[in-house]
Amino acid sequence: MLDKSIKPSSIVGYLDEFVIGQDEAKKILAVAVYSHYRKIEQSRRKTVEIAKSNVLLIGPSGTGKTLMCETLSKLIEVPFVTADATSLAQTRFVNEEIDAILQRLLDKADGDIARAQSGIVFIDEIDKLKAPQGQPRSISGESVQHALLKIMEGAPVKLQNAQYLDTTNILFICGGAFIGLEAIMSKTHGYGFISTSDADNANILERLNTRVKPTDLFEFGLIPEFTGRLPIVATFGELSRPMLVRILTEPRNSIYNQFREIFRNEGVELEIERRVFEQIAEIAWEYKTGARSLRGIFEEMITPILYVVPDRPDLKKVHITSLFTDPAFMRA
Ligand SMILES: Nc1ncnc2c1ncn2[C@@H]1O[C@H](COP(=O)(O)OP(=O)(O)OP(=O)(O)O)[C@@H](O)[C@H]1O
Ligand SMILES: [Mg+2]
Repeated sequence: MLDKSIKPSSIVGYLDEFVIGQDEAKKILAVAVYSHYRKIEQSRRKTVEIAKSNVLLIGPSGTGKTLMCETLSKLIEVPFVTADATSLAQTRFVNEEIDAILQRLLDKADGDIARAQSGIVFIDEIDKLKAPQGQPRSISGESVQHALLKIMEGAPVKLQNAQYLDTTNILFICGGAFIGLEAIMSKTHGYGFISTSDADNANILERLNTRVKPTDLFEFGLIPEFTGRLPIVATFGELSRPMLVRILTEPRNSIYNQFREIFRNEGVELEIERRVFEQIAEIAWEYKTGARSLRGIFEEMITPILYVVPDRPDLKKVHITSLFTDPAFMRA
């Protein structure tokens, strides 16, 4: 099922090639996926029922939640589909939509029911199913949570072609930005009464304090039964400016590498000074949308250059030294 050579550390190693930082979340997700498949194998051998541990990814917008799941799906050779909770909340036919997700999972498994039944479903924007602030919980959001509950805990679902898909061994990963959760947590958390005499204790306390509790999610607007099905929580941190610089330059498919390739196809070498990436990171950081705005800022800089490059077959190299000055060949 899961390739025998895959271990939590090798999953993290692979994620590292594409996702910058978020080390804690990488580990949690890697262990969750690894144990999930170990559990399925064990329960086949021993007929022991081992409860499944679905995963919840929480963190600010643009910090890599969706990216991490998509990267993960490329590594592991199990059927993997992504769905969006927002569209589930907007439809009148929630159950049909959910059936469609499972149908897509079956398609990904090339129609092999057994493989689909041990696949992974990633449901993004799960926080959109919450109650609007100060209002009774939205009916649609809550009914979607109930509908999802059923498949998350395991149920045979009848698909269009009258085949049944059992969701018991499907791993569900839910993701969301959960804006406002931090305020709830700072209100409800605190283990001040436990002694903090040494550094170890302080570390444990720190971990407990940053841990998202089901009651926090309930107060945020998810129904308790739903949060109860998501026992593993991984939190994503805000991206710092140095991390934004690394995102621009380090991943295998980083924006810099992509554009170097584009220029190479024009017969031109593209070289960009580190300072330029720092300037871009600075602006992106102001926008507070994580890494999401990096591409737009970069493209704004590069578009006028890409406009003239095809007209200059003599050009061998473009060297950018600042976000705010044109490269030398354009000034000439
Ligand atoms: N940690 C990261 N490492 C590398 N690239 C990142 C990272 N975080 C974000 N990015 C870049 O920013 C884009 C947006 O990130 P992503 O879609 O994963 O955000 P998200 O956490 O799912 O946000 P949202 O809550 O708004 O859905 C990605 O496509 C990727 O290019
Ligand atoms: Mg996302």
